[in-house]
Parts: sequence; C-alpha cells; structure tokens
Amino acid sequence: MTTTPTTPPHKRWWRTPTSRLLTAAATLTATAAVLITAPGADAAAGTLGAAAAQTGRYFGTAIAAGKLGNTAYTTLAAREFNMVTPENEMKPDATEPNQNQFTFSAGDQIYNWATSHGAQVRGHTLAWHAQQPGWMQNMGGSTLRNAMINHIQKVMTHYQGKLAYWDVVNEAFNEDGSRRSSNLQSTGNDWIEVAFKTARAADPTTKLCYNDYNIDNWNYAKTQGVYTMIRDFKSRGVPIDCVGLQAHFTGGSSVPSNLQTTISSFAALGVDVALTEVDVTNASTTQYAALTQACMNVARCVGITVWGVRDSDSWRSGENPLLFDGNGNKKSAYNSVLNVLNSGGGTTTTPTTTPTGPTTPTTPTTTPGSGNCTATLSAGQTWNDRYNLNVSVNGSSTWTVTMTVPSPAKISATWNINATWPSSQVLVATPNGNGNNWGVTIQHNGNWNWPSVSCSTS
Ligand code: XIL
Repeated sequence: MTTTPTTPPHKRWWRTPTSRLLTAAATLTATAAVLITAPGADAAAGTLGAAAAQTGRYFGTAIAAGKLGNTAYTTLAAREFNMVTPENEMKPDATEPNQNQFTFSAGDQIYNWATSHGAQVRGHTLAWHAQQPGWMQNMGGSTLRNAMINHIQKVMTHYQGKLAYWDVVNEAFNEDGSRRSSNLQSTGNDWIEVAFKTARAADPTTKLCYNDYNIDNWNYAKTQGVYTMIRDFKSRGVPIDCVGLQAHFTGGSSVPSNLQTTISSFAALGVDVALTEVDVTNASTTQYAALTQACMNVARCVGITVWGVRDSDSWRSGENPLLFDGNGNKKSAYNSVLNVLNSGGGTTTTPTTTPTGPTTPTTPTTTPGSGNCTATLSAGQTWNDRYNLNVSVNGSSTWTVTMTVPSPAKISATWNINATWPSSQVLVATPNGNGNNWGVTIQHNGNWNWPSVSCSTS
C-alpha cells in the first residue's frame, strides 16, 4: 500500500467526534462480543459523501440542469453527493452561444442547487475541442486565441471565488501522447499554458485542473504525455493545481492494475488528483472497489466523481455503469465503494509542520520503459535535511533508469552508477559495471515525497 509521508498510520482511523458518539450508540445495541472490539471500530458513514468526507475527500456526481425538476433524482443526488459537476451546462457552447454573449442560467441553476444542498462545484470546462459553439468551430489563429482568452476571463469572472475546481483544459492529448490536433492546438502549442495563466489571473481562488480520459494506465503513452506536460508546467511556474482522470471505464476499457501508481505519480508532481467522470461497464463491483481504493491510498487524491446519478442518467446508459439503477436503488457496486470509503485511507489534510522523515513511496517502483526492467526503491538512512534511497534494478543488466525528484527536493549524491543530468530535477542512471544496486542522497528541502523512477533497456 502506498501512503504519503504526511499521513501517520494512526490517522487512518480518524473520525469526527460525532461519529464517535454514533459508535458509542451502536455499541450499546451490539452484542458483548462486539463490545470487546468496540474501541477500534468506528461508525461507518451511510452515504458516499459523508464516507468520503471522513478522510477529507469528496464524492461527486455529474448533474444535468434539465433533471433538477425530478424529485427522485434530486433527492438521491442531495443525499449521496457533496460535489457536483455540471454535465454540459458550463461548457463553451452552453455559456457563450453567441460570441461575447454569455448565458449562465443553466450553470447557475446547478450551482445554486448544489450549494443549497451543501455540495461544492467543479467547473467543467473552459477550453476543449468539443462542444464549442458554432461561431468558434470555424475560427483559427489569433482570432480564436483571443476568443479563448475572452471566454476564460468572462466565465471565470462570473463564477469568481465560487467553484472548488475548474477543468481549464479538457482532452488535449492523442492516445500516443502527442497533442491532439484541433483549432485550439493550431493557434500554437502554448495554448494550454496561456489558458491556465488566463484562468489564474481571472480567479486566483479556484483550483485549476487539466482533465482527460485514458490517462489512468501509467504504462500508456497518453498518460506519460500528460504527466510530462504537468511536470513541465510545474518546473516553469505555469499555474496548475490539479489533474482530473476522467476514468471512463466503459466502451471497452477497464481499471488498470497500476491506477494507484498513476495517481501517486501525478500527486508527486505537486498537484491534486481526482477521478472526475467515473463510470464502469455494468458497474463491476471489483473495479469500482479498486478505483476507490487506489484513490484512498494516495493522500492527494482529493475525490471521486461519478458521471451521473442513476444508470438511466448516464451518457452510456446502455452499459448500466453507475451506482444506482434506473429506479434509484443502490447497486452492489454502491456498497463496495461505500465500504472502501469507510475503511479509511491517506487523509488529504495539508500538514502544518514539516514531517520528520520519509515513510513509504508516493511514486511507482515500476514504470514504463521500452524493455523488461524494474527499478525498486527502498528507504536508506535519514537525516534532518536529507535521506538516502536504495535502488535495485531487476530484469536486465543494460538498464537506464530515469529518476525525477519532486521540486524543491534535489539529488545531492549518487553511488554505483554513471549519472547524467538532463535537468536539476532529473537523473539518468546507467550501470557503472558494479552491479544493479545503487542509490542516491536527496536533499528534501521540505518535500519528502519520493522521486518517480522509470526503467528502460534501450
Ligand atoms: C458528455 C455528456 O455526458 C453528454 O451529455 C454530452 O452529450 C457529451 O459530453 N468527457 C467529458 C465530458 O469531459 O464532458 C463528456 O460528457 C464525456 C466525456
């Protein structure tokens, strides 16, 4: 299991005083056998939102404004979820149907409904190749660039200070990790960073996210493409606070076994991570449990949003991919998710004091490469200002390991390797003829998160 250094093990079982009272009440009605184990057994929360909140996370859903008049829908949504994403109502075609004429009525309706039911809102989305208004679709060059900037400024100003997150840019990568071609991309490769800089200036209080699908599998080129962009943004000070993994495990895809590695690797770059549009073909209980557990195991995985309330509300309703059936009944996947949320995990609380030492890695021990080799990290000696990591490479004797330390940490020493330095944060290690075990000393500079590593044989 992976946790972050900021989460002491005892925190796993933290509960609110209210839930302790509930525990006590439950215990009174329990059997003597249960009484013996009662001190460690806290009350479980009964809804997804409350269960997620026990570890500082949220559990959200997409909401459609057109369904807010349906009582069955709103009762269920209000009861279970504490984060809301407008399914279509904050997209460019909805908010700016004619150039420079903005319509916020449907978005506001969802915002008002959500906040009046104690939920926060994730804005979705400001710059995207799809669901552009007609006038934007045929635009290009500096006209489109300026229209994008104006759109971001106006929409974010309307919601200034109100939203928890904004998906500033959606789906800008191809499956091979390159940039998707679109009218936005053809305005220049810097369009994404311009979008984020514009967004920060328009609303400095809302967290700014990049959001995409098929970036759940760490060994996938698209995941690496997005990871590289965010690492670059972080290193150059381009404002970005979060990455959203849409996590549509429908249409033939399924939860990868390395999802937690992906989440922890993004988190180690210094961004919040969220699963933003979850659905799973036929709501497989094991896949729902696995994706929830992967999030719970990474402190900086801040929440999970499912893409709709009931199966009948899903954009892929034919796959019955959600947690409630068309009649609003809980499906077995609901219980599996709730159980995992209730079993605890790394809390997302930001520490106020500097941690005293590394615990376990937040980053992968096995990462993609062109060959069959694996680099495994283990803790070495620790001092106040630095710590050693031992690296063991398996599978090949002609390996190349790339290690990336999270800023502002720096590698200050290495042993048993030939080292080159593409940047101050990145070490490329190759064998020096002295075996496959080597190591580094890392000056943590306040960031105890372990580096990410990838191993390649060519
Ligand atoms: C979907 C909506 O669910 C549909 O109602 C709409 O017709 C098309 O868009 N990725 C995203 C979401 O980021 O905005 C998409 O939502 C699903 C895929």
